[in-house]
Amino acid sequence: MLTLTLLTIPFLLYAGLKLYEIYSVRRIYRVGGVGEPYLQTLGIFSMLKTYITTGTEETTTKQLENYKKFGRQTGIYHTFFGPFNYINLTDPEAQKKVMTNSKLFPKFQLTYSENSSPSYRFFGKNLAFMEGEEWQRNRHFFYPISYNVEKFYDTFETHIKNCVTKWDEQFDKQRQDKPVTVYAQHDLTKLFLDILGETVLGVKFNAKDDQIAGVIESYRFFAENLFQPVRAFIPILNKLPTKYNKQVEMHVKRFDGFLYSIIEEARHTIQTGVDKNSILDLIILDEKNLAPTNKQIRDAVVTAIINGHDTTSSAVGFGLYSLAKHQHIQQKLYEELCTITIHNDLSEPMSGSESADFYDQLIQLKYLDWFFKENIRMYPPSGSVLPREAAKDTVLCDYFIPKGTMINVSIISPCHSDAYFGDDVDEFKPERWSDSGNIPEYAYKPFGSGSRKCPGYRFSMIEQKLFFYTVLKKYKIELEKGYQFESFSKFLNHMPYDFKIILTKR
Ligand code: HEM
Repeated sequence: MLTLTLLTIPFLLYAGLKLYEIYSVRRIYRVGGVGEPYLQTLGIFSMLKTYITTGTEETTTKQLENYKKFGRQTGIYHTFFGPFNYINLTDPEAQKKVMTNSKLFPKFQLTYSENSSPSYRFFGKNLAFMEGEEWQRNRHFFYPISYNVEKFYDTFETHIKNCVTKWDEQFDKQRQDKPVTVYAQHDLTKLFLDILGETVLGVKFNAKDDQIAGVIESYRFFAENLFQPVRAFIPILNKLPTKYNKQVEMHVKRFDGFLYSIIEEARHTIQTGVDKNSILDLIILDEKNLAPTNKQIRDAVVTAIINGHDTTSSAVGFGLYSLAKHQHIQQKLYEELCTITIHNDLSEPMSGSESADFYDQLIQLKYLDWFFKENIRMYPPSGSVLPREAAKDTVLCDYFIPKGTMINVSIISPCHSDAYFGDDVDEFKPERWSDSGNIPEYAYKPFGSGSRKCPGYRFSMIEQKLFFYTVLKKYKIELEKGYQFESFSKFLNHMPYDFKIILTKR
């Protein structure tokens, strides 16, 4: 009897889920054109597996394969997000329709709310999830990041210098100029967090200080556990007196205690006429226009750090990988970097006019720009923009989409489609950007598009270009012998896994 029950329960569960899958797929059907009456689906079990293994290399690789496969075929396919229908949109025209109509396709909210996600307590209200007037108001906080990047050049230089000095010390230790191996991805993750600590908060995250070490520990606790799908669907789990929930409480308390004291201190020092030129200071200084509360400021600065951190370290990690793998591209880029007439080895601060001249030249370098674009085409740090939701029944790619359907707008899929990038789509080829006029507008959007385009675009682009300049002027880089490329996923971002490079001094 017991055996029979034990066999029947999983069977009923399986049958129930399968029926639900069939019902869900049938709700989305073709209303125009010619082709299959229903969408291809990855199926409910495929997605259940993804939730369990989310963040592992296997899931990331599988996701990329699906995006590539279906992206080349239909432009749209179906899957599940828990109990929700989930449409993966890979066709740029249909993506444009979704991304340019925020009334019909607002951001999907369920995955991120106070009840559904422990991370919400930590990350607060992230601009990327806001809509309407609230979004418009909060987007103002990010103006300094978009339009005042020059203010942060010194900070970029200081921290990039710290990173390469640490690498140089490895040469000093061996007392000769033999090549050295460095843990690139580890060092990049630290570097770009240090930059954000200082530009956003005016705090030196690399300082040897117990309080800061604790705050960074709390940040990492959440950054590494950002996506908790099971907790999103069973919110009661967030209320139980478990070890994990107690840790959440402790980390939120520690992080908030620190942030609110920094905000109070910034308000005070600005009143006394001193400011650290951080984004936090700029938000407070614009008080007349914005009149932000401490909670709004807190959420804005946390958003800047979390949105700007893994994205940039992922892009630079893949960039180093590609340069090490394609030596001819590295050589070409190096030669172009040598044409900059201002010598900037970061050892001495530059004068104001030298600095302006240097960055003008850096930003205008053609091959560096093509390399930057090609790198994030091949490896877009965010595989998709944040999911949208159909606010009404609608039609996409000739299929009827019922109200409430969650829509995933893929960034990576059109970037890997031969339909938009030609037969050599799988090659890393910066030269393709010498003539990019034929690429449809929405086929290439690693920083999003339209009014929701990433406000950190320029900030990250200059950080990255300065980093590649500094590293390539100093070192020739290679991959370790036998290195097999692997990447792993951190929520929406993925990056090279256990990635080391070999440096030889030039
Ligand atoms: C390689 C680096 C980066 C990439 C690839 C990237 C990618 C993106 C993408 C694709 C979006 C659009 C999301 C959507 O439409 O749902 C976005 C939005 C956003 N990004 Fe970035 N980002 C990067 C760096 C940064 C940096 C450095 C910051 C801040 C310091 C930042 C802050 C934001 C914010 C606040 C939003 C939300 C904008 C809004 O909804 O109005 N990002 N980013």
